[in-house]
This record gives sequence, structure tokens and C-alpha cells, in this order.
Amino acid sequence: MTTTDDGGGVLTSIRPFGTALQMNLAAALRTRRLGTRGWQGAVNTAYDPLDPATAADPFAAYRALHSGGRLHYNAKRATWVVSRLEDVRAALRDTDKINSSQGVTRVRMAAELVVLTDGQQHSRLRKQVQPAFTKRALDSWQAITGRLATELVDNVLANPGCNVVEELAIPMPLRVIAGILGVPEADIADFRRWSEGAVQMINFTPTPSGILGGARCLAAALALRRYFLKQLASGHLKGSGTVLGRLIEHSTDGNLTDEQLFLISILLLIAGNETTTNLLGGMFDVFARNPEEYDKIRANPDLIPMAVEELLRFTSPIQNLYRYTCADYDIGDVTIPNGSRVLLSFGAANRDPLVFDDPDTFIADRNPRMHVAFGYGAHMCIGAPLARMEAEAVLRELVERVERITTTGPTTWSTNSSLRGPTVLPVRLQQR
Ligand code: HEM
Repeated sequence: MTTTDDGGGVLTSIRPFGTALQMNLAAALRTRRLGTRGWQGAVNTAYDPLDPATAADPFAAYRALHSGGRLHYNAKRATWVVSRLEDVRAALRDTDKINSSQGVTRVRMAAELVVLTDGQQHSRLRKQVQPAFTKRALDSWQAITGRLATELVDNVLANPGCNVVEELAIPMPLRVIAGILGVPEADIADFRRWSEGAVQMINFTPTPSGILGGARCLAAALALRRYFLKQLASGHLKGSGTVLGRLIEHSTDGNLTDEQLFLISILLLIAGNETTTNLLGGMFDVFARNPEEYDKIRANPDLIPMAVEELLRFTSPIQNLYRYTCADYDIGDVTIPNGSRVLLSFGAANRDPLVFDDPDTFIADRNPRMHVAFGYGAHMCIGAPLARMEAEAVLRELVERVERITTTGPTTWSTNSSLRGPTVLPVRLQQR
């Protein structure tokens, strides 16, 4: 880890993934100290996604935001809060004024990563990853997801009362990604341990416990990096059917180095794991609470794709991401000044009563086409078809084999301010 002063604050630079990831901790703390001086004209709010209780159960807060006004400002956190669907979509579109180059989390950070760049640099990096997600590639992954869904639902059926998050929602996306990268079965346990450690980077906070956790994920990221670079150097993980093999074959950006290939792999792990886990865990919670909606899908399995869209809207695996304004940005008659931190609440937008009737109710055949669970605009999720495929595979397996999903104990929810999903969800599946 190195630190430099860029004149605007101390940039803490770490290279966990071989590329510089710069976090402006001083700027983050300074923004907080600005307090109410940053406020200009929006409705003041105490809504705070960093509060663990709010993060675990944010829906009353969303109702208050929706009835309170169009744009809110939390002075304690020096954060503007955008909660209406149309405003979230407009902000995601307007990358000239409000963008990702200073980060998409509460701590400002910069790195040459697709999610943290804009304009031409972003297009170039996105084109590096896109060939992995062609229709042909997706078709070739159907068998992997179908097989895993059967095996994991088998396990849950065989263990009534098990924590379905541990038993199915975590291993499904992780093993799918391992499978499409071509990681051999024998390495999957290590791969899982390092990946789970490394992806916690997304939860970094500049607090003593956050820094300690950060050191642990750094160690995991370095182990994962050693593993990848060793495998890549000996020609593994580059086969023609693998993700990296496809990227090498279709590269429009010269020869991709092993470092670049590793970076792309870690990006897929970070972007695709906890998000999909939250969706799959959320699915069991929703159907245990709404048996009549589950029955609707059992009676008509053609509803599966539509039900997955409604699950995405209703559970919103990423509840919030941030943007920073790079020019004055207007919402209605309020101007958010250049340099501000703006929270885009996907979770609130997906329950916007101006767009969705009865937004807090799960309706399997609602067909909520406007939802922003995968974002919108230039940065819209590249892995959306894969996440949908995984959720559809699990739901198909359930409706074919399971009559009723019931919980056998209390559900615990994550308290992360951006990603929300169950962490403990004991279930029993009643076979047909
Ligand atoms: C239910 C599961 C998922 C959800 C809810 C989700 C959500 C999102 C969202 C909201 C964004 C936009 C970020 C932004 O605007 O700053 C995004 C971007 C991205 N997602 Fe996903 N994602 C999921 C699964 C996946 C999977 C499975 C992969 C790949 C294996 C993936 C790869 C990516 C990548 C590479 C980006 C960056 C795109 C860019 O910046 O241009 N995601 N995702």
C-alpha cells in the first residue's frame, strides 16, 4: 500500500489486483466534515444506508423518501439521495455531468476498471469483457447452470432446515463462474475461499475494523492473483470454451496480458457473486412468504422469466450505488453542485409508487420492465443474462420438484449499505 498527496488530498494506492486502486480517504473524511454547508435546497433526510438496521430493512425508509419529496440530502453523510425511478435512470444516462470515474461507493476511488471509468476508456474496457457474454457463450453455459441447479436443490431437499444461503445461494454463482473460467474441480475449495475473501473489497470502509477487514481481503486477493498468474503462465484457463479463451480470441485491444486477464476474472467474481447470491437467497424468502404467487408459477411455468424480473425488482440485490458529480447537475429545480456525492437508490427506485402499483407487493406476473436492478445506460450489467439464467434454472428446478417452500427459523439479512440479501435463511422444501 502506498500513499501520495495529489494536492486535493492523500491518495491511498493499493495494488491488490495488479492495477492501482486509489482511494481518496482524506477527501472522504473532508466531505463528511462539510456537514450542512453542502446542503442546497433538497429535502433534508436522516435516511442513512450505513445504519445496519436500515440496510437490513430499508423499505419503511424508502416509503418516507417517496412521500417526502423528489430529492433528499443527508447532511451527516454529505450525501444527496435520489430515489425516484425516472431520476435514477436520468442520472445513469448523464455521464457528462455525473459519472463513475471517482467511484461508485461511499469512498472515492479510481482504477482502470470498467465500472470505474467513463467515456472512451470505459468503452474500450467494456469491449474487452463483452465477447465473454455472447449468445453462443451463454448457450454453452446452460448445461453448467442446469446441472448445478439440480445438484444444489437436491442438497437442500436432503437437508430440511439447512441454511439455503450456504447450501445453494453462495455456491451456485461461485461454481458457475469457476466452471465458465475453467477452474478445475480440485481447486474449487481454494478458489471459493480466496474469492470470498477478495470480493469483500467492495465493502471497504475507512474505519479501524474496515481497515483490518481490508488487510484480510488483500491477502485473499494476492493468493487468488498468484493462483491465476501461475495457471495462466502454464496455459491453463485459456481453453477455447472458457471465458478467457473467448476474450483472447475476440480481443480488439491487442494481445491481452495475463495481468489483464486476471483483472477481468476478478471483476467477474466481484460483480457476479454476492449479487447473484442475494437474488437466489431473496427468491427463497419471497416464495416462503408468498406461497400463492409460487403456486401461480407452478401452475404456469412459462411465467418463470417474468417472475425472475419481478424478483429482481422486488429484492434489488444491489440496493445502492454512488456517483460523483463532475459538473453542476439539476434534478427538478434543485442544483446539485459539482463535486458532490450522490447516492442512487436502485432499491427505492424499484419500489417507486409513481411507476409500480402496490410496489411493496411481489406479483409474479407483474412484468416490471422499467426496473433498474441491473442499472441502466452505459454501465448496465454485462452479466445480466447469466444472472437471469442462473435464477431461472433454480426456479425451474423448484417449480418442477417442490410443492411448498417454508422457513424453519428466523431470517437474518446482510447489513451492507449497498448489497442486500439474506445471510441465514433456514428452509424446508416439501417435495411434490
Ligand atoms: C443478480 C445479479 C446481478 C445484479 C443485481 C447486478 C447488478 C449490476 C449493476 C446494478 C451494475 C451497474 C453498475 C453501475 O452502474 O455502476 C452492474 C454492472 C456490472 N455487472 Fe452486474 N449484476 C449481477 C450479476 C452479474 C454477473 C453474474 C456478472 C458477471 C459474471 C456481472 C458483471 C458486471 C459487470 C462486468 C459490470 C460492469 C459494467 C460496466 O461498468 O460497464 N454482473 N451489475
